[in-house]
This record gives sequence, C-alpha cells and structure tokens, in this order.
Amino acid sequence: MDKIIIDGGKKLNGDVHISGAKNAALPIMVSALLTPGVSTFHNIPDLVDIKTIKKLLRNLGVKIEGESTVKVNTENINNCEAPYDLVKTMRASVLVLGPLVARMGVARVSLPGGCAIGARPVNLHIKALQDLGAEVELKDGYVDAKAKRLKGTTIYFDISTVTGTENIMMAACLAEGTTLLKNAAKEPEVVNLADVLNAMGAKIIGAGTDIIRIDGVDQLHPIEASVIPDRIEAGTFMIAAGITGGDVRILGCEPSHLDALILKLRDAGMEITIIDGGIRATTRKKIKSVDIKTLPYPGFPTDLQAQIMALMSVANGLSVIAETVFENRFMHVSELMRMGADILIHGNSAMVKGIPKLKGAQVMATDLRASASLILAGLAAEGKTELSRVYHIDRGYQEIEKKFSALGADIKRVSG
Ligand code: EPU
Repeated sequence: MDKIIIDGGKKLNGDVHISGAKNAALPIMVSALLTPGVSTFHNIPDLVDIKTIKKLLRNLGVKIEGESTVKVNTENINNCEAPYDLVKTMRASVLVLGPLVARMGVARVSLPGGCAIGARPVNLHIKALQDLGAEVELKDGYVDAKAKRLKGTTIYFDISTVTGTENIMMAACLAEGTTLLKNAAKEPEVVNLADVLNAMGAKIIGAGTDIIRIDGVDQLHPIEASVIPDRIEAGTFMIAAGITGGDVRILGCEPSHLDALILKLRDAGMEITIIDGGIRATTRKKIKSVDIKTLPYPGFPTDLQAQIMALMSVANGLSVIAETVFENRFMHVSELMRMGADILIHGNSAMVKGIPKLKGAQVMATDLRASASLILAGLAAEGKTELSRVYHIDRGYQEIEKKFSALGADIKRVSG
C-alpha cells in the first residue's frame, strides 16, 4: 500500500490549479441515465471515486469513454442493479436509484451500510421516492424500487441532504406533474446538477434555495456540460497557505462558493484576496484561533472541518470546533494528537488548544478529509510525517502530492 512521506516546515509559494468538483461530477455523470444518447461532460477530475462511478454505470450497460472529458452513452441500459461491492466502496452510488426508477421504472440498489464518519442512512432518499409514488421494498440489504411513472408531489426533507436532494431532483424531472422539494440542500453542487438537468430539457427552478420546484417532462435529451471547480480542494490549499505561512494563488476556483471559509481565515489573520481567476491566500502573522461550527451550505462545510482543525492546532489560543453534520467525524483527532496537537473532544465539539509547532509522526488516514488534514499537519510539522492508507486521499484529491510539491513542499509518495 502506498504511503505519503512529508518533510515538514517548508513555506508554500506559487500557483495551484483546482480540478473539477468530485461531488458535482458524480451526480452529473449519473444524470445521463435520464436521457437516451451520448452526453459529454468536461472538467471531470481524475479520482478513484470517478473510476468507481464509471464502473457502476458500465455495469448498468452505459458506455463511457474519456478522462477529463467524458462521453457517456446511455442508449442501452440493460441492468438496473447497483451491487453491494460498488455501493459499499462509494456511498454516492446510491445516486442511481432515482434516475433508474424514473427512466426504467425499476431499480435495485444495495444499502450502503456504515461509514467512518457516521451512520449516514439513506432513509430520506427512500421516503422521498415513496412520496413520488414508487413502491419500495427493503430486502436482503437492497432497496428494490419500482414505479410505472413517478408522480409529482410536495416532499419535505427532515434534514438537509445533498445526495438526497440530488437523487430526488433527478427522479422528479421525469415525473408526471410538479414536485416541490422543501428544506432542499443548497450546495453549489446541487445548483450545478440542476443547471445540467435544465440544459437536458428539465424544468427546475429554485436550485440553490431551500425550495426547489421541478415541473416533470416526458423526456430529456443528451447534452454537453461542465463541472464546477472543487471548492473543498480549493479550501484545502487556502488552509495549506495558512498552516505553512506561505503565499499561494489558488486558480480556477469559484470564490463565491467559499465565503464561510474566506471569512473565517481572515478572522484568523490570513490575507485572502479575490484575484483574477481565483484566490490569493497569504499569511504574514501568527494564526489566531477561531471557532467553527459545521453546517449545510452556506454554512462552514463539514468537508473542511478536519483541515481547519489542523490549522487551529497551531493557532494562538483556544478554538472550539463543533461538527453538526456528521456524528463521528473526529477520527483525525487522535492522529493529530500523535503529532503533538492538544485536542479534547466533548460530544460533537473539539476543543483545540493551539501549540507552537506540530512534530512529524507516523499517522494513518481514516477517511478522505481526515487524510487531507494530516497532510496539512505534516506540511507544517517539524520533521518527517509518514501517512499510511493514502488510498482515501485518492478518492477525492487529484495528484495532491504533485500539486503540493509544485508549491515547494517536500512530499513524495512511496509504494510498499
Ligand atoms: N442523512 C440522513 N438520512 C438520509 C440522508 C442523510 O439521516 O437519508 C443525514 C446524514 O447521516 C448526515 C446528514 O443527513 O448526518 C447530511 O448528509 P448528506 O445526505 O447531506 O450527505 P451526503 O449527501 O451523503 C454529501 C457529500 C459529502 C459531504 C456531505 C455533507 C457527495 C457525494 N458527498 O454526502 O462529501 O460531506 O454531502 O456536505 O456529495 C466528501 O466529499 O468527503 C464527503 C463525505
């Protein structure tokens, strides 16, 4: 298994280019299931999760070609099952449920099971599909769903759910009549998907607000579209500039998707400037502690919680970081503590007392964003950090060690 080795303490300087957003690319590639024909998607990141969704779509009979530009041919769907093997490695596989029922009238999708960051049930996806008139049975660990044609209705999500909103928004495009999604997720990835669906001929208004209206249509047509830049990757590089005392231009990102982080980093004493083509992140002073509470968008993203915790672990003062989206997303804490961080977990909050310097250590990645946090900690630490189980990072960051090394970090991947 590969490892990442970092010799910490180098200030990062220079330009980094942000890849397409994993969490937008996944639903957008799946959305092609709603149309018969060839759709073309640009700015697809080169990630393990993208390989997994390709495998899943191919398993349904979809033909796929290309890497950063992907052609998805959905003419012949000959299987409506998402098997356990694929769903357990990537929960976003559940996104095929809504589109398959809407276009094919039937779907069999494995229940994802537990996950390192929380229980993450899909009950809200299932309930909403039932509200649209699908017959759903849970049997042998699978969701079996069928419907002659889904019927538009009003759906209320108890919790704002990103993939739940995406799944049902896709399904409702081909339903008969109007669907209203209330307490819908407002993430930019939901908006990107709605734009793609509208280009396919769907009638969606309100994406980006908590009420989305979808007027069902009889059929959609293939299109050519682009994926938005990855705001979590961009945020990770902004924090990297902060933790190493560097000066980094983060190019190709969308600053308006990053307001919560930008304002927090400014409060922490960083200089964050919106420049032509992206963001410049610099640090001239010692980082000050700030408190963080993760929330659905436009709140502070849970997907940046682990990374900002690494920054807070070397800030001046005490920071309280509350995780309200997932119930178990503190797996990085004990690893950061192996590097000397002073962190106390109490319920869903972590009290982080800043220390002057982290020390390199052998650490283990437990999930995607935890891995990013440990890499950031390693970049700032004194001495050598060895990160194992780096397959987690390859799920969501394209060539992360190459991007950091181009900024001056001493980082390499070794196999074995
Ligand atoms: N939830 C339920 N029932 C449901 C659905 C969600 O209880 O049926 C709960 C979850 O357990 C969680 C909360 O609702 O406590 C919000 O979860 P959400 O459904 O929004 O998460 P998701 O759609 O499974 C997406 C991203 C995650 C990101 C979250 C929150 C994708 C493919 N994944 O997951 O990304 O953390 O939204 O923003 O879009 C990552 O990229 O590292 C990652 C985990």
